[in-house]
Amino acid sequence: MIYLTRVEHFNAAHKLSNPNWTDEQNFEVFNKCSNPNWHGHNYELHVTVKGDPNPETGFVYNAKVLGQIIKDTVIEKIDHKNLNLDVDFMQGKFTSAENLAIGIWDQLKPHIEADGAVLHCVKLLETKNIYVEYYG
Ligand code: NI
Repeated sequence: MIYLTRVEHFNAAHKLSNPNWTDEQNFEVFNKCSNPNWHGHNYELHVTVKGDPNPETGFVYNAKVLGQIIKDTVIEKIDHKNLNLDVDFMQGKFTSAENLAIGIWDQLKPHIEADGAVLHCVKLLETKNIYVEYYG
């Protein structure tokens, strides 16, 4: 078993706030991410697939195809967008890195599986110091 990871980048705006809380409570929990007038992050996305090398290519999966799937099904929908307002698969959810990673996994999985590969991990860095990993 070998793992192949493709790294992509996108920029997006969001806001984290619980509508049942006061601004002060939201700031206490979400800090700058609760800013009422939005803010942005430079996200870094790592998508890992797994399998055995194909005897005809030596590849576990074609990294260029993986990049195209990520671009078509995820990046096009979220890059330079407002995650709370613009992104269909984030509607009604807290736009935390956790929920965004799960949403991205759900977008990617059917396309990667249809192409005969196995999705292993979606790792999403919201900042250089904070990231989440989702394994389905
Ligand atoms: Ni934020």
